[in-house]
Amino acid sequence: MKKTLVLLGIAFAIMAMAATIKVGVVLPMTGGISAFGQLTWEGIELAHEMMPTVAGNEVKLILLDNRSEKTEAANAVARAIDKEKVVAILGEVASSHSLAGGAVAEEKHTPMLSPSSTNPLVTQGKKYVSRVCFIDPFQGGAAAVFAAKKLNAKTAVIFTDIQQDYSVGLTNFFMKAFKKLGGRAMQVFYNTGDQDFTAQISTALAFNPDVIFITGYYPEAALISRQARQLGYKGYIMGGDGLEAPELISIGGKAVEGLYFTTHFHAKAAATPMTKKFVAMYEKKFKKEPSALGALGFDAYLILMNAMEKVLKANPDIVNNLQAFRDALAKEIRNTKDFEGATGKITIDKNGNAIKSVVVDVVKNGKFDFAAIINPDEIPM
Ligand code: PHE
Repeated sequence: MKKTLVLLGIAFAIMAMAATIKVGVVLPMTGGISAFGQLTWEGIELAHEMMPTVAGNEVKLILLDNRSEKTEAANAVARAIDKEKVVAILGEVASSHSLAGGAVAEEKHTPMLSPSSTNPLVTQGKKYVSRVCFIDPFQGGAAAVFAAKKLNAKTAVIFTDIQQDYSVGLTNFFMKAFKKLGGRAMQVFYNTGDQDFTAQISTALAFNPDVIFITGYYPEAALISRQARQLGYKGYIMGGDGLEAPELISIGGKAVEGLYFTTHFHAKAAATPMTKKFVAMYEKKFKKEPSALGALGFDAYLILMNAMEKVLKANPDIVNNLQAFRDALAKEIRNTKDFEGATGKITIDKNGNAIKSVVVDVVKNGKFDFAAIINPDEIPM
C-alpha cells in the first residue's frame, strides 16, 4: 500500500513537471492559395507525429487559417499569441502574409519561423522572425542562370503580380541577374485573382521572348500558360517556387508541359539521409509524392523542436515562464547549424535566413520532375 502511494506520488510529480507546449501554425488553409496551406500542413503533421514531445513535454499544434488574406494573416498571429499563448509560430507561406504576420510576432516578441517565405524583407530588421528556406535574390539569380545558360535564353518577358511582395521582389532579382548574364528583359503586370491575360500576352508576344517568366502563384500562372499557348506562344515558360502545387497541372494541363520552375526540394534530389526518411514516411501516410512545401513544413517543425530542446535542456524551468521561453527560443533558432533536414543541410544565419541550393523542376508527363540543382556559389548576386 505504502509502496503504491509512493509510486503514485512519483508519477504525479513527473506529470506536474511535464508541460504542454503550444505551437501556433498559421497557414492559408482556405482561399486563393489554399493548396499551399494544405501541403505545408501535411509536412508539419508528419514531423509532429515523428516527434510529438520535446524534452519530456507534449507539443500541441494549434492550426489557424489566414484564409489567403493579408489582414487575416496578421489577425491569426495576434490570436495565436494573445489568446492561445503559443510559445512560437510556424508560418506563413506567402511572403505578403509573413510580412503582415511577422510584424505582429516581432512586436509581441514571439518567435515565428517561416517554412517557405522567400522575400528578403520578411526577416529584415527583425529579431523574432526567421525562415528555413533560401531568399529570392538566390532564387531569382538561380532562375536567371538556368534560363541564360541551360535554356540559352537571350530575351525574357516577366509576368509580375503587383499585389504580391514575393512576385515584385522575384521579378527584380531575376531581371538584375538575367541582364548581368547578357539577357534582355521586359515586364508586364497583373493582379491576384485576374482571369484574362490576353492584353499582357499580346504585349509579351510582340517582344518575341525566348522565355516567359511568371513570378506569381499557381492559380494565375496556370491560366497565363494556357492563354499564352492558345495565342500561339512557342517559347519556354518558367516560374519560381510559387508555381509548385498540383493545381498548376490540373488547371494548366498540356500548356504547362515543359514548364521549368525553381524550388526547394525534389525527392530525386535526395539532399541528406533525412530526405529519404521523409520521402518514405510521407508516401506511406499520404499515398502520393511529397511536395517542396511538405518538406519545408517538416523541416521547420524539426528545427523549431531542435532549438526548443536546447533551450529546455539548458533551463527546464523556462517552460513556466512564457516570455523568457519565447525570447530564448528566438535566439536559439538563429544558432541552427548544419541541421540535416529533408530539404538539405540547414544553417540559419544571424539575420534569420538559410542559405541553400536551388532545385529546378520541370513538368513532364503531367508530373513534377527533377531537372537541375544550382548551388549558391554559381549564382550571380
Ligand atoms: N516563396 C513563396 C513566397 O514567399 C511561397 C512559396 C514557397 C510557395 C514554396 C510555394 C512553394 O511567397
